[in-house]
Order: sequence, then C-alpha cells, then structure tokens
Amino acid sequence: MNANSLAGRDCLRLLDLTPEEFELVLQTAAKQKADWAAGIHEAPCAGKAIAIIMEKPSLRTRSSFEIGAYRLGAHPLVMSDDHSAFSRGETVQDTTLVLERFVDAIVLRTFEQSKVAEVAKWSKNPVINALSDDFHPCQGLADALTIVEHKGTLKGLTLAYVGDGNNMAHTYLEMGALAGMHVRLGCPAIHMPDARVVAECEQLASQAGASIEIFENAAQAVAGADIVLTDTWTSMGDEDEHDQRLAEFEGFQVNGELMARAAQGALFMHCLPAHRGEEVTDEVMDAPYSVIYDEAENRLHAQKALLSLLMGAV
Ligand code: CP
Repeated sequence: MNANSLAGRDCLRLLDLTPEEFELVLQTAAKQKADWAAGIHEAPCAGKAIAIIMEKPSLRTRSSFEIGAYRLGAHPLVMSDDHSAFSRGETVQDTTLVLERFVDAIVLRTFEQSKVAEVAKWSKNPVINALSDDFHPCQGLADALTIVEHKGTLKGLTLAYVGDGNNMAHTYLEMGALAGMHVRLGCPAIHMPDARVVAECEQLASQAGASIEIFENAAQAVAGADIVLTDTWTSMGDEDEHDQRLAEFEGFQVNGELMARAAQGALFMHCLPAHRGEEVTDEVMDAPYSVIYDEAENRLHAQKALLSLLMGAV
C-alpha cells in the first residue's frame, strides 16, 4: 500500500480536494481506465468492503459504485430506499459507528449535506458524497475526466452551465476553481446558486487564474463556450413543482440555436437523467458533439480512482 495525501480522507464536495489532489484523481482514473481496457485487472481493494447507501433513486451512481467496488476487488454492500441503513430511524451516530465495524468506506446519497458531514464526523473510514442537495462531487470528477478526454485539458477552457443553480452548478463552480477554468452560469434570477458557494469558489478561482461569471440568461453564458452543460429543472424532491418550474425556466432550454452560440467544436454534457424536450432537446442530446454517454461511463472510472485513493490502496 502506498501513502497518498488522500488516504483516509473524505470527499463530501470537490473543494475537499486541493487542485493537486483533484488532478491526482483524474490521472489515476485515466490510468485505471486504460489498464482495464488493456486487460490489466488489478484489485487494489481486495478484501475490503464498501457500504453504498442510497436514500434517493439512482441509475448511474448505484451501478457505477457497485461495479467499481467489484472491479477494485472490494465487496459492495448496497442499501437503498426502504432498506437504507438509515430507514429505521437509528441515529446517524449509531448507524455509522455500527457500519464502520464492517466496512472500509461509506458512500452516501442523501438530501442534506449536513447528514453526509455527520456520517463523516462519526466514521473513521472515508466517506464519499454520492449526491446531496448541495453537491455532486463524483459527477464533477467524471465530467472533468470526460472533458480532458475530449479537449486534452481543463485549464483555460470556458464551461457554460445553463439552468438551475443547484448541486451541479455548485459542483461546476468548484471544478472550475480547482482546475483553472472560466465558469459561466446562466440561471433564472430565482434559481441562482448559493451565494456562499459562489464566494468560496471566487476566492479560489482568483488564485488559480480562473474566473466566474453569472448571468440571468442562457445566451450570454453560452457565447463562445467550449463546453455547454445543463441539468434537470426538477431535481429529486422538487417533483411537486414540475409545472411551475417549467414556466420559471422558460428561455433556458439548451437547443440547437443556443449551441450555435458556443465555440466551434464545443461539447454538450448532461449528468443525466435528462428530461428531453424540457431542459434540452433531442437534437442536442443526440448530436455528434454530445458526450453524455462517455460522461456516464466515466462515473465508474472516476469513482474507482477516488475510492482507491481514499482507501489508501494506490
Ligand atoms: N447523474 C447521476 O447521479 O445519475 P443517477 O441519479 O442515475 O445516479
């Protein structure tokens, strides 16, 4: 086992990583992905166990963590929905202190960031945020890996995120600040990102030669961008507001006309699941410049790297 600066740490948001550690995760992911494709199937986490707790629905996150743990040689202990570790009302303290007797890392998808933080407080083993209302760091790592694969770099690129100032908007602000990107958000005034996250990222961005610009319209955000991203307008938990939100996000759809404002060769990305015809059109989702399925696949590679680094196995 090699020591790395991430061994034994948590990843509750991208800003838990330094720029160097963020880069280390991406390089490890690229190497592990290439090795796997070349038939080199190492199992650096053999004999370990990873709890994967899903308090919200998931396709990509659950699949990629479960298969990722298997490929690392670890046992994935998946607990979801009514069978989640927390579904019987035990305290976070008791649940975590029992679980850590069995597993070597905890992956948690839940609502409040404070719950992920509380699990991390009690767990002596690494805790990974697999999506909370505030952040989705694993998606950010997968997206960064995808951009590097298609553009060769992150630094200096302009990333335009259009839509809800939600956990993905926060994650892209953090990614840009860590990687030296120019991040532009186009969000309706009533769906802006959390000002505290923006302020934290602005401080880091200024040190990294990065920048943040926030607009109340999509066209300004996308003009000349190298990457255009969006996310659902109705996040998990907001379903009752679906019709109201469709009206609030009018003018923020990513369609062919909006993509034409981006730079030549711009990529389109979406963390999925998408609501085709709402935040994005079929034309864009299925365009040659859309890399949505690479992005989904890279959840596996990014999370394998993150798990193996946090578990001190590489
Ligand atoms: N992007 C993402 O987290 O997908 P799932 O909700 O399917 O896990």
